[in-house]
Amino acid sequence: MPADTQQKPVDRRWQRIIQTMLRHNNQSDALIETLHTVQETYGYLDPAVLAAVADRLGIPPARVFGVATFYNHFSLKPKGDHTLVICTGTACHVRGNDQILAWVKEQYHLTPGQTSADNRLSLVEARCVGACALAPVILCDGVLTGKKGYKETTAIIEEWLGHAS
Ligand code: FES
Repeated sequence: MPADTQQKPVDRRWQRIIQTMLRHNNQSDALIETLHTVQETYGYLDPAVLAAVADRLGIPPARVFGVATFYNHFSLKPKGDHTLVICTGTACHVRGNDQILAWVKEQYHLTPGQTSADNRLSLVEARCVGACALAPVILCDGVLTGKKGYKETTAIIEEWLGHAS
């Protein structure tokens, strides 16, 4: 269980999600219904909330993200056409993702949780998505990819934005 997921969201939305999990005694078979509740409550599947759900249900975060990205009904996107999730958990931090996050924030004038004014790009920060061996990890529209530097990350964003040559 990643230490980073110990810091759980504490608000009414999270309380609603806890109630869903409690109805299933915090068993792993609560996952799908819990993801529905997360989506209804937050409007999308916030990675920090997914990590906390994984922690509480005792499910590896990578499996939770896998389910979350398998079903079309679920969205990891706040609302943009494309979503870049940058993991800044310990392993990814050590391997440079904080610099990548800083670079993306500066280049695209976005802070985590924001979507660009033209709705093309949403930026999300996650705390360990459970694939530390691949650090530094990013998720590009829900697809997990590892060992990418800021140049590759920028190239992906530029392609999304239609700026690639
Ligand atoms: S810190 Fe674990 S996947 Fe990034």
